[in-house]
Amino acid sequence: MSLNSAIEELREQFDRDIQNVRNGGVDTEQIRVKYLGRKGLVAGLFSGMGNIPAADRPAAGQALNALKTYLAEELNKLQRDFSAGKEDVPADLDYTLPGDPFPKGSIHPITQIMEEIKDIFHHLGFSVAYGPEIDTDFYNFEALNFPPNHPARDMQDTFYSGDAVLRTHTSNTQIHHMMDSDPPVKILAPGRVFRHEDISVRSYCLFHQVEGLFVDKTVTMANLKGDLDYFARSLFGKAVKTRFRPSFFPFTEPSAEMDVSCIFCGGKGCNICKYAGWLEILGCGMVDPEVFKSVKYDPSVWQGYAFGMGVERIAMLKFGVEDIRLFFEGDVRFLRQF
Ligand code: DAH
Repeated sequence: MSLNSAIEELREQFDRDIQNVRNGGVDTEQIRVKYLGRKGLVAGLFSGMGNIPAADRPAAGQALNALKTYLAEELNKLQRDFSAGKEDVPADLDYTLPGDPFPKGSIHPITQIMEEIKDIFHHLGFSVAYGPEIDTDFYNFEALNFPPNHPARDMQDTFYSGDAVLRTHTSNTQIHHMMDSDPPVKILAPGRVFRHEDISVRSYCLFHQVEGLFVDKTVTMANLKGDLDYFARSLFGKAVKTRFRPSFFPFTEPSAEMDVSCIFCGGKGCNICKYAGWLEILGCGMVDPEVFKSVKYDPSVWQGYAFGMGVERIAMLKFGVEDIRLFFEGDVRFLRQF
């Protein structure tokens, strides 16, 4: 048998032995002695070198050395694998102990409600748009037709720093979106808003709103009422009724507020609806032509409706939460309940 085939045979035998060790058959050290020991199989092959013609000896020596290196490396690898495993498993480990808990997180209740609202309006063909939380007076007030001395611009209501204002409502996204794209538009703009409010059970300096804007050539108040009624029934249940009361916002004309029949007493009157039978849910109206002028839409061609709602208020009603601050404290005892 030639040296090369002897080497090949030995390597195959070695690979089988190694597999045996991995399967738990024999000890690594036993294999090392069998192959690389002083009287081992590799040493045996080396001792046969004398029988090889002198001219072939360097090549034969190289082949044998390569074999030796291969075997040594494989054995080291095997040893490393075994000792790594050993380090992880202390001898006194009690396998019957329960494992470390790996608690699952939950989706924040505000996020849950926002997702639900987005989903409902998605069915009505609205896509989602985002606007900046830090904005300028122009986008937050001026382009929305707030008169120059309107109290909402006051430092009492707003966080200012130089030209920058933390948006007081998501209505700024209406302006950004209309300035960036041609009509028609149909967008839903969820996000955080900020007001300089006294912090209490009912108000916080930060909260969330969802804004809606639909502009096309034939959008009417009937579309507004139909779509928002569909929204209220999808969110609060089929039995819920809606009503629209006249109101005022600088950026809509006419303006309205939408109430839903009280989801707790069904409209009979209870202490949550203060015996009115109705709960106020959102502000809405037909986009004021002044707003269209500030975004360079022709008000004689385009008309639209808009609405805005506070997400915390809806979440408080749906989940029966009585203190708005709970949404912002990150207390897991509260969050775990959703
Ligand atoms: N921006 C108003 C607020 O923060 C809510 C609002 C009312 C938005 C009427 C609208 C709207 O788009 O048409 O109180």
